[in-house]
Amino acid sequence: MRALVVRGRDATPAVEEVRQPDPGPGELRVRIRAAGICHSDLSMVNGTLAPAYPLVLGHEATGVVAGTGPGARLAVGTPVVLNWAPACRSCWHCRHGEPWLCAANSAPATARGETVDGTPLHVTLGLGALAEEVVVPERAAVPIPAGLPPEQAALLGCAVLTGTGAVRNTARVAPGESVAVLGLGGVGLAALGAARRAGAAPVLAVDVAEAKRDLALAAGATDFLLADDRLSKEVRARTGGRGVDHAFECVGRAATIRAAWRLTRRGGAVTVVGMGGNDDLLTLSALDIFHSARTLRSSVYGSSDPDREVPALAAALADGSLDLGPLVSGTVPLDEAPAALDRLARGEGARWVVSF
Ligand code: APR
Ligand code: ZN
Repeated sequence: MRALVVRGRDATPAVEEVRQPDPGPGELRVRIRAAGICHSDLSMVNGTLAPAYPLVLGHEATGVVAGTGPGARLAVGTPVVLNWAPACRSCWHCRHGEPWLCAANSAPATARGETVDGTPLHVTLGLGALAEEVVVPERAAVPIPAGLPPEQAALLGCAVLTGTGAVRNTARVAPGESVAVLGLGGVGLAALGAARRAGAAPVLAVDVAEAKRDLALAAGATDFLLADDRLSKEVRARTGGRGVDHAFECVGRAATIRAAWRLTRRGGAVTVVGMGGNDDLLTLSALDIFHSARTLRSSVYGSSDPDREVPALAAALADGSLDLGPLVSGTVPLDEAPAALDRLARGEGARWVVSF
């Protein structure tokens, strides 16, 4: 089958023929219908993250169960969303209500399958979903209702679960609170939509790219602000001079975490949603940390339990109370995935989705 493979750091990803094993005990083969391209895929290529290569990219997808290994219970034909942090339900974190921190899921890449020339292959976050098929543990597949638009359902597996969960679960944004979202890719746009639905006001959308303005307003922002040297003043003008109650960093860089910190009021909360690099350092003074009384915390996979929350989001998609149309900039065939990755790198559009 064909998959988007990157052979090494800074190599150009290309569509290759690869071999995946048959599903083993408790595993499924899933035929992918749609897979989103996330900034983390870029981070797997450009060295921000350090996975093993060659690597199948992709970790945000929907598909249909096409085969089952011994003991797997889902029926062939079941539509599913893939979960890149499947909970083991037995480690300390799973037993303490933090399945998103499950100890079984710390590696960015897992060995699985091989290339046609026989080189051992790795898959992103246990999935490698920018591929015609994946073989995954059954717990990495969450059943969803049939008939959802695949290019929207795919986003439930990463951007939407992450952005929505950051707002609802991690920060617990309340009606009337003020919110700023920095970085308006799929993750940030999902976060600001969730903030608006939670009754937050104002919901300030911040990006370096003016082209994100219309996308942000369509996704639920009350205001779009350019990330320039007037940003702090513009935010304070809209928040009684104080700064926002909640800032969400959806870029994955120390500089934007610092910007989010500065935009937040005394006693407010900064939630880091972006996944940055290990050598990108943030400096805060001891006095600033004390005096500002702010909270700084991260949100991994939206502090969510995908087994519970993906079906709830899928039901909202089905009944029309959730519309992810504004998040999808376009669908492309797998052969055009490298070009779509370039577009993402240039900050063009919201989410590009590969459709199979
Ligand atoms: N200030 C504000 N916005 C910025 C800045 C900045 N200094 N620098 C970049 N941006 C914007 C880009 O213009 C782009 O709109 O951040 C956005 C990032 O969007 P995407 O590249 O589409 O990223 P996304 O897939 O949404 O992921 C965001 O979450 O899951 C993590 O690894 C992922 O760290 C990444 C983050
Ligand atoms: Zn992602």
